[in-house]
Amino acid sequence: MLVVVEMSVAKIARFPYSFCIMKQVYLNTFGCQMNVADTDRMELVLFHSGYQRTLEKEDADLILVNTCSIREKAEQKTFSLFGGLRSLKVSNPDLILGLTGCLGQQEGEQLLKRMPYLDFVMGPDQVEGIAQAVDRVRSTGEPFVWTGFDHGKVYSIPELSDDLPRAPGPSAFVNIIKGCDKFCTFCVVPFTRGREKSREPEELFGEIRHLVNRGAKEIILLGQNVNSYGKRGLKNAMPFHELLYRVAEIPGLQRLRFTTSHPNDFTRETIRAYRDLDMLMNHLHLPVQSGNNRVLKAMRRDHTIEEYLDLLAELKSAVPDISLSTDIIVGFPGETDEDFEDTLKVMEEVGYSSSFMFAYSPRPGTPASELPDSVPDETKKRRLQETISLQSRRTEQRGQSFVGKNVAVLIEGKSSKPGYIFKGRNPQYWNVNIRGGESLLRAGATAHVQVEQVSGHSLNGRAIL
Ligand code: 5AD
Ligand code: SF4
Repeated sequence: MLVVVEMSVAKIARFPYSFCIMKQVYLNTFGCQMNVADTDRMELVLFHSGYQRTLEKEDADLILVNTCSIREKAEQKTFSLFGGLRSLKVSNPDLILGLTGCLGQQEGEQLLKRMPYLDFVMGPDQVEGIAQAVDRVRSTGEPFVWTGFDHGKVYSIPELSDDLPRAPGPSAFVNIIKGCDKFCTFCVVPFTRGREKSREPEELFGEIRHLVNRGAKEIILLGQNVNSYGKRGLKNAMPFHELLYRVAEIPGLQRLRFTTSHPNDFTRETIRAYRDLDMLMNHLHLPVQSGNNRVLKAMRRDHTIEEYLDLLAELKSAVPDISLSTDIIVGFPGETDEDFEDTLKVMEEVGYSSSFMFAYSPRPGTPASELPDSVPDETKKRRLQETISLQSRRTEQRGQSFVGKNVAVLIEGKSSKPGYIFKGRNPQYWNVNIRGGESLLRAGATAHVQVEQVSGHSLNGRAIL
């Protein structure tokens, strides 16, 4: 379906394609924030090829599903979504259907065999080439697979342009490093996203300035292992902590965050950056995965639980109001009840404000998938439930410590909670629902909020005007 977009003459003059008749793309994303960032990137590239995003798949000329393969469940969700898309393709043979992302890299040709109605399959490293992929389908009509890794030294990004498909929100992600060299034995990411590659600092500063000039107040630096930033391949080497100091100098930027970190690459200089930089928000996501040294070793995490706890102790003493979150896997091959108890102990001791908890799922091609998947599903489920219950208690306790306090909240948009107007985040990355202040506040403003209650992972409070 074609849509004619109304535009000013000045804007038409800058547009690279004629007559401003835009096609529609429906984008669906599974998985992590890297995938969300990749989808945004594809939206930007496609916008400059004459596509605008639609939220209705029935209206689309092009449907892209950006997939995840980190756990089996993510794959199952993708296949059931494609089951539904098939009928759209049957009723509209001109519709282009593409599968992108980690499952594409992992399964390649197999996906075309399983879903012959697909037009193409791409991996995460082909994101920048999405417009070429669509052109190729249009000109040849032949299905194809385009995967593999871009080993070139230069991390290419499209030119920044004044024309954005939409203005950035108050909080924007910026990808600083792609891939991962850690090869944790359970993880498929090094196989789907390839080797680590950092983006040149100047490129990053340009992108961040661009986002800030268009309304972003907070930047979240993104990567599978951001602490490994700048170790290799840059024209001028720059360690991660230095990047933080340099980004913090960008005029207009109010808040800075980063995710995800790896304990082995997290440096003392980065702890110092938390102390020195007011805009670096007091939250750290530091995956622990397990509280047991034998399991950590089998996971190839390459640190002991004592080293992990020492690091956090140092961080907490430098930044007492820091909030911590983590990732946990239960039921890794060979994990005994006692090993699992060690994980619960660490969760108790650290007092994370939130955790992402997963039952181990063997992934094709990973070293752990060669081991017998020895923990029965029932046991995995029970352990998962125990971690979830423990975390809920801890989250409630952590939340209660904010009740009665005033917190600074960057407003991100409207709250969906009845009786509340806005929602946003405090420095410790808690969701905050805000009542009052409707005439004075807006998205992008920082509100001072008196916290009144905790509900689940959110704080609820009243704007102080
Ligand atoms: N099974 C379960 N959880 C996994 N994760 C990564 N691979 C697996 C797997 N095979 C989890 C880890 C990681 C997070 C992004 O996903 O906890 O930190
Ligand atoms: Fe996967 Fe480990 Fe790399 Fe994280 S650090 S992406 S868990 S291999």
